[in-house]
Amino acid sequence: MSLIDVENLTLQFRTDEGLITAVDDVSFSLEPGEIMGLVGESGSGKSVTAKSLMRLNPDNAVYGPKSRIILNLDSGPVDVLKLRPGRGMQIVRGGAISMIFQEPMASFAPAITIGDQMVEQLLLHRKVANEKEATTISIEMLERVGISDASKRFGQYAFELSGGMRQRAMIAMALSTRPKLLIADEPTTALDVTIQAQVIDLMKDLVADFGMGIVFITHDLGVIAQTADRVAVMYLGRLVETGTVRQVIKTPAHPYTKGLLNALPKLDNLSAELTPVPGDIPSPLERPSGCVFNTRCSVSLGTPCQTRIPDYSYVGEGHEAACLLLEEEAVKA
Ligand SMILES: Nc1ncnc2c1ncn2[C@@H]1O[C@H](COP(=O)(O)OP(=O)(O)OP(=O)(O)O)[C@@H](O)[C@H]1O
Ligand SMILES: [Mg+2]
Repeated sequence: MSLIDVENLTLQFRTDEGLITAVDDVSFSLEPGEIMGLVGESGSGKSVTAKSLMRLNPDNAVYGPKSRIILNLDSGPVDVLKLRPGRGMQIVRGGAISMIFQEPMASFAPAITIGDQMVEQLLLHRKVANEKEATTISIEMLERVGISDASKRFGQYAFELSGGMRQRAMIAMALSTRPKLLIADEPTTALDVTIQAQVIDLMKDLVADFGMGIVFITHDLGVIAQTADRVAVMYLGRLVETGTVRQVIKTPAHPYTKGLLNALPKLDNLSAELTPVPGDIPSPLERPSGCVFNTRCSVSLGTPCQTRIPDYSYVGEGHEAACLLLEEEAVKA
């Protein structure tokens, strides 16, 4: 059974300028022991999708009536969007799901030491015998994410740590409760490459050891290639392509994915000119009609792409992309 099923997730924000659509009819599932990468440029809706899985978006968030986020817990399925904020949600948040936030300070209470927070979480969510055991586990986890002098750091406050160390402490805290689902929002962005590799290895170990599932968010397809099993490519609130990492990187089907991949330096040809996707992602207040990518697409068909939202086309087993060109190809074939 899958760990989580996201069905038709639509999320709008009420703002002074009007309703803006940040997530538009997004569906995906994650199996236990699977790492799914969620990639896309800045502003594509990755963080708000992640926060939806824990219902952490602010009060101006409006979920679409068809949106479902089904979390399959040992005790049975739970629709996260139907949970009342409060205790039920807390159990889901800290025990079954953990989140590594893009902004590490958001995870830490300023006036409680890192150690006290880790111990408190462990006592609350995991069956540790006592505070002593929770302390041992916490310090071990701090060491596993590469924090030297872990016992000293254990007694410090978040503001006393450097940015990179704070990020690692947050990762340690998120992993220590051995969640079933980890949502990791740009978990390694602030880290240097050696530590980044170490943290990714640790996550992979936990996936292998406990069957944890991870939604791994990044704008970096290179990191995805090293880390994920499957990848979902997001653009302006929509998933435009999903497939295994191999499928999406070797045989990308959507023009946006192709553009993202062209922007990566190739190891076999580092001197090749990089061709980033031209133009900027439009403001969500000015979402293009039809295919959301049409305003930047080099192979747009014009009017059809500006007026019709493309369906998902079959590209290969487990590989789909939403582009009118693919639909046309299918008709011709
Ligand atoms: N509370 C909010 N109120 C109004 N708009 C919001 C709110 N939170 C996010 N948004 C908007 O939703 C869109 C998606 O934002 P999100 O933070 O999910 O992007 P992202 O893909 O995570 O980008 P990045 O790579 O920069 O982290 C953006 O246009 C953002 O301005
Ligand atoms: Mg983000």
